Amino acid sequence: MTILIRADAEGISRAAEMLRAGKLVAFGTETVYGLGGLATSDAAVARIFAAKGRPRFNPLISHFPDADSAFAQVRTNDLAHKLAEVFWPGPLTMILPRGPGATVSDLAAAGLDTLAIRVPRGDVPRQLLREVGAPVAGPSANRSGAISPSDAFHVLRSLEGRIDAILDSGPCAVGVESTVLDLSSDVPVLLRPGGTTLEQLTDVCGRVYQPDDRTEALPVSPGRLLSHYAPELPLRLDAHEVGPDEALLAFGPALPGGGLVWNLSETGNTEEAAARLYAGLRFLDAEGQRRGLKGLAAMPISRTGLGLAILDRLRRAAGPHPTSRPTP
Ligand code: TXA
Ligand code: MG
Repeated sequence: MTILIRADAEGISRAAEMLRAGKLVAFGTETVYGLGGLATSDAAVARIFAAKGRPRFNPLISHFPDADSAFAQVRTNDLAHKLAEVFWPGPLTMILPRGPGATVSDLAAAGLDTLAIRVPRGDVPRQLLREVGAPVAGPSANRSGAISPSDAFHVLRSLEGRIDAILDSGPCAVGVESTVLDLSSDVPVLLRPGGTTLEQLTDVCGRVYQPDDRTEALPVSPGRLLSHYAPELPLRLDAHEVGPDEALLAFGPALPGGGLVWNLSETGNTEEAAARLYAGLRFLDAEGQRRGLKGLAAMPISRTGLGLAILDRLRRAAGPHPTSRPTP
């Protein structure tokens, strides 16, 4: 059974106690809800993979209340410290070589010699992480291949009965996952665009290398599989017109003719659009199927600010569906 816990002081302590006992507790961050489990416990991490139904072991991000506890797990460098000062707490995940003092389980790191560390923004997750007092692994709290959850209800619908509790802190402010930046080599590599924008990163890092997973032979990060975040209905990108049997994901003034429309942001604001993205995909997918529509059409979105992360998720949502779809 999955219980819903209100994120007041008592609820946070209860959730922390459950996590310390090896249970799975989903919790809200500024980006999306994470499926939390003790990152130091192989058993808890194995339960995370099972609950998500991940087809194969994909390394998990470990969450910390502050930079000191995060950096205790890895070999740091000057750039990592600089980035932490500017962006933590906040939607940036750093990949760094595992350090001699690391306590994160090998299973959480999927056997890699690097670790993904993150200090989320928000009073609730930070208090929770302080009370747990150990790294908390947290992939997005959805079944593998499905759309990420931006509120507690989405988590419940996707994982009810598969996890022990959900700490409900309301909807997530940013709405797309953290930016994943690999700092384990000389040049920082953008593995996943996300809540910290490329413009913000280049201001601090100078150059950021952006691999292109359409031309790169192997996904650099296991989570870069082309199909991900997928709705059931096929998604068409860069739509300049909308068909009678399509639902419209609009950005800016909506195209004429769409019967079923979700506008990400009428004013074309990418921050508002990111916060409304997953709820919109989920709504158009469910309502579109109910109305017998054949697909979703997404209008063009600017590549600036959070637009890059939105486009990345939409491109994956439009990618080839995996052969074995998780059963909902
Ligand atoms: O905003 C977020 O990052 C959310 C919240 C809950 O914190 N979490 C999240 O986790 O999105 P997940 O598991 O859905 O995505 C983690 C990404 C994956 O693409 C994974 O492959 C990559 O980070 N990753 C983790 N460890 C890595 C490593 N050592 N090297 C390269 N990529 C890694
Ligand atoms: Mg995910």
